[in-house]
Amino acid sequence: MSFKRTLITTALPYANGPVHIGHLAGVYVPADIYARYLRMQGREVLMIGGSDEHGVPITIKARNEGVTPQDIVDRYHKIIKDSFEEFGISFDVYGRTTSETHRRVASDFFRRLYEKGEFVEKTSMQLYDEEAGQFLADRYVTGKCPHCGAEGAYGDQCEACGTSLNATDLIDPKSAITGSVPVMRETKHYYLPLDKWQPELEKWILEGHREWKTNVYGQCKSWLDMGLQPRAVSRDLDWGIPVPVEGAEGKVLYVWFDAPIGYISNTIDLVGDDYTKWWKDPETRMLHFIGKDNIVFHCIVFPSMLMADGSYNLPDNVPANEFLNLEGNKISTSRNWAVWLHEYLRDFPGKQDVLRYVLTANAPETKDNDFTWADFQQRNNSELVAILGNFVNRAVVLTHKYFDGVVPQAAPGEAEDAVFAEIASLREKITESLDGFHFREALKLAMDMARAGNRYLQETEPWKVAKTDMARTGAILNAALRICADLAVAFGPFLPFMSEKLASMLGLGQLSWDMIGQPGTVAEGSRIGQPVLLFEKIEDDAIQAQVNRLLDTRKENDLKGWQPEPVKADCAYEDFEKVDIRVGRVLECVKVKKSKKLLQFLIDDGMEKRTILSGIAQSYEDPSVLVGKEVCFIANFAPRKMMGIESQGMILSAVNPDGTLTVISPSADVRPGATVG
Ligand code: MF3
Ligand code: ZN
Repeated sequence: MSFKRTLITTALPYANGPVHIGHLAGVYVPADIYARYLRMQGREVLMIGGSDEHGVPITIKARNEGVTPQDIVDRYHKIIKDSFEEFGISFDVYGRTTSETHRRVASDFFRRLYEKGEFVEKTSMQLYDEEAGQFLADRYVTGKCPHCGAEGAYGDQCEACGTSLNATDLIDPKSAITGSVPVMRETKHYYLPLDKWQPELEKWILEGHREWKTNVYGQCKSWLDMGLQPRAVSRDLDWGIPVPVEGAEGKVLYVWFDAPIGYISNTIDLVGDDYTKWWKDPETRMLHFIGKDNIVFHCIVFPSMLMADGSYNLPDNVPANEFLNLEGNKISTSRNWAVWLHEYLRDFPGKQDVLRYVLTANAPETKDNDFTWADFQQRNNSELVAILGNFVNRAVVLTHKYFDGVVPQAAPGEAEDAVFAEIASLREKITESLDGFHFREALKLAMDMARAGNRYLQETEPWKVAKTDMARTGAILNAALRICADLAVAFGPFLPFMSEKLASMLGLGQLSWDMIGQPGTVAEGSRIGQPVLLFEKIEDDAIQAQVNRLLDTRKENDLKGWQPEPVKADCAYEDFEKVDIRVGRVLECVKVKKSKKLLQFLIDDGMEKRTILSGIAQSYEDPSVLVGKEVCFIANFAPRKMMGIESQGMILSAVNPDGTLTVISPSADVRPGATVG
């Protein structure tokens, strides 16, 4: 590796809501793992983060709540920043795009390009909301997607098919502010001619960066193959950084123009003029950690801006991740289908590392992945507790038991040579995986190191040896403690809180990557700390509470989206009269064997008893609750056989929004046999 230092940038989250596990899994945990790893290697690194505080979603939220956009971003910037801090995301700076520095840096950037003649000015017809008195771009307008036909596509993107759109592409557009149908009005904008940079981009990416992840490379290739078009970088809005040139009154920079410049401004806030070393020195390597929806902006648009300026480095790699789903469904802020970090911290205080572990073990590195609470519990209980925690605990407890907590002398024999050879080889593999941004794999290998520790204790059985040979027992425990130290280092990038606890238990100083596999890291004759529980079992009820919360959310969403079915075509009274609806009393009600759906009723219809089958078993866990109830049924349907049983009628039920069925009963006592009409 021929670079001197690494600049890590992490996508700036929009400050219009709190952050959830998808953010953490896709961007911030991987970036943090990598930054911590480089620091442990003694490399020069900066990790840049911050809030993206412009853009239409913020103004829409402000409008809905009757507050200012500044109120919104102040609120969420703090919540987001706090969440990241709590999860140990080790930003060197976490800034905001409403800062003074950023306004200056972004304006200067635009002005520089403007003066170099890098923009094209174009007048075109844009959507305009006459009621609100403003132009509609991006999320201010919704309509039908011209590609897939989905309703509710936004003016910048259709979330159903992922295509990025122009507001004027939408079919039947509607203003998201007033709901009115927009008119067309003329306006001037500044365009960055991406087509001008196409040849350079092709050379740089398609030829120069074949090593990029296939998802990233593939997306870039398909954009380039389609042919790049000039892209408007200004908007007619009142929230944003004013376009700093004459004749642009009332216009602001497009959020995707100013936000990535935020990486530069935040660097400047941290190191001042030294920022050139991080952004312009060819010996600095820049990495953008992002989610897949940000690929085009970081691989095509921002690099074109940097090329247009001409004095900046381009990113070396863009290790973008796919998406994390939650219990089988896409994470969605508006549907509250998410695990919010601040809520996780409330429900699982002190368990930041557990979430970091599960999100890394399941990271959506090459394809979308699913977070489930069952997997979370399982990985905690049978990996963190049973493998890692158990090993460390045994080593520390036994050292206290046999040696009063004083580190015994090393005396490596065959078993020790074998386990340390395995650890050395694991260290190589972990290093290689981390260098290639394969964090899942690296974590799995680190856990293999803990497995090796357990196996070592299982084979050497110090609790048995202690009965006869204390010197050998000491040698075993010395090796076990040394493995604990290796684990503190190897897990350092992934589980920083655990690593710190373990390091202080063992009396290790500053951890460095090359300590893994080294003898003498735990000093002979020193006294280790009392055993501290690193992980604890997570019980079923804690998991059930989370699952229930999601089930409630799903129900609420179903209700919110529910609409009564449209009324059917007209029906003549004579036709209705043909149907003989009656009240009957349920005498018996049981599940039909081998059928998921059917309940078998025995009904007193006022004259005799009749059997009726009804497909509502999934709505009645315990069918006996229906016994004794009066129900309505159709008495004159021709008998029909199902599952070998003849059904003499049909029980009437209402269809609920979630698809379950509720049997219709009269509101007061009614004699069986009474007609309904
Ligand atoms: N706010 C954007 C998002 O959440 C990411 C911006 S990344 C930056 O998708 F580069 F523009 F800062
Ligand atoms: Zn679409």
